[in-house]
Parts: sequence; structure tokens; C-alpha cells
Amino acid sequence: MQAVLIAGALVLIAVGAVIFTLVTPWWFTPQASNWGEIDSTLLLTIWITGIAFVLVNLFVAYTVIRYRHREGQRAEYLPEHKRLEWGLIALTTVGVIVLLAPGLFVYSRFITPPEEAMLVEVVGEQWRWTFRFPGPDGVLGEADPQRISFENPFGIDPDDPYAQDDVLVLGNELHLPVGVPVKLQLRAKDVLHSFYVPQFRVKMDTVPGMVTHLWFTPTEVGRYEIACAEYCGIGHHTMRGVVVVEDEESFRQWLATQPIFGSPAGRSE
Ligand code: CUA
Repeated sequence: MQAVLIAGALVLIAVGAVIFTLVTPWWFTPQASNWGEIDSTLLLTIWITGIAFVLVNLFVAYTVIRYRHREGQRAEYLPEHKRLEWGLIALTTVGVIVLLAPGLFVYSRFITPPEEAMLVEVVGEQWRWTFRFPGPDGVLGEADPQRISFENPFGIDPDDPYAQDDVLVLGNELHLPVGVPVKLQLRAKDVLHSFYVPQFRVKMDTVPGMVTHLWFTPTEVGRYEIACAEYCGIGHHTMRGVVVVEDEESFRQWLATQPIFGSPAGRSE
């Protein structure tokens, strides 16, 4: 009786998990970038781990009943079973490769931006996001955390000629033109943060002392929330921002309203 109850509970868990996955409202957000491949790899993971989960539960349920305790019956002691062990090793290896390989392929594409991608710098700090565009020369000026001050929040080298036309965006809001590939170059001023825009399927840690990067093409006009996806202190939950995706013309107009490093407006907050 007990064995049947336990087996029943296991079957219920397996069936319940499948039903939950089919009807859950917590599914992918609508996609607004080119990264459909990221959804494919996630779905592949759900399928493989889901099938394994159901099979393991059903197998345990079966064995609980099939080998339940019976009076006068003793378990067989079988410490070694070479064929079974090699079989399990092979199966697990195939499973790990199938789970890992597609993700590695997509990741290598995710961090290899196309030549023509527009460069934008993202800086994470406790607890806000700031952004920098390289200006007409297309090159960001040298920046060094040592130079960060109230007047120079990005730590930009004031003598670097490439820095003079850099556009500074200090307001947690990043505008991007629709349909244009963007390369984000990310750094952090203080602790670990993570730049995450769910609709773009884009997430990357910002690491103090390191520059990380990724790329994507926004495909839908709209406003998208930036969330910090790495716990970074007491204000972590307030570290939000917005990406506004709009047509090229509106983007140019917005960019023109932002301060330029080499101009008097760019030298203080
Ligand atoms: Cu920044 Cu959490």
C-alpha cells in the first residue's frame, strides 16, 4: 500500500510538471531582437531536462512497486555492473554534449559582433546605468577607473583626442535606432552587475577591471526595461533603466540633446 502511494506521488509530480510547463503564464517575453537562437537553445534544454525528469520519476515509481518489500525476500548484492555503468556514462556524456554544444555555438556568435555594428559603452555602478557613444569618429576615448570623479563620471582621459566627441548619457535611458546592429561594450565602476534586457534575450555581466561585450539588433520599436541581473547591494532592485528603440531620425534627434565630453556641458553632471 505504502509503495503504491509513493509511486502515485512520483507519477503525479511528473505529470504535474508537464501540465505546469504547458499552461504556465511565466513564459518567454515577446521577442524584440535578432536572438531567436537563444530561445531555441532554452527550449532544447527544457525538452531534454524535461524528458529526463519524467523518465527518472516514472522509473523510480516503477521500481518502488516492482521491488517493494516482501516477507522472506532478500535484496541481491550487486556492487559492480560494468555494462550498466558504461551505458550510463555514455548516456550522460551524450546528454551533456547535446545540452552544452548548441549554447556554445550561439554564445560565440553572441560575442562576435558584425563589422558594421554601432558601438555603445554601458557602465554599471551602484545603482544606475550610464552610456557613452563614440561620436562621429567612431572611437571611444580612453577611460580609466583611476580618473573617475564627480566631474568625470566615466573616468575619460581628457587629453585623448578620440574622447573629445564622445557623447555621454547619464540618465538611465538608452536610445537605439531600430534595425541597426549594436555592439555593447560593458564595464563596472564598483562591483559586479549584470546588464539584462529580457525582450532582447541579452544579458552580460559588467565586471570591475574588465571589459565585456555582446551584440544584438533591436527589431521592434518600443520601450524595454533594463534590469540589473546580479545582486549588487542594497539598491540592486532600483538599478533599472530603459532602452528606447525608435526610428533613425528620432534617435539622431535624441543623441544630439546629450552632452559631449569635450564641450563645457560634458565636464560636469
Ligand atoms: Cu547592479 Cu544589481
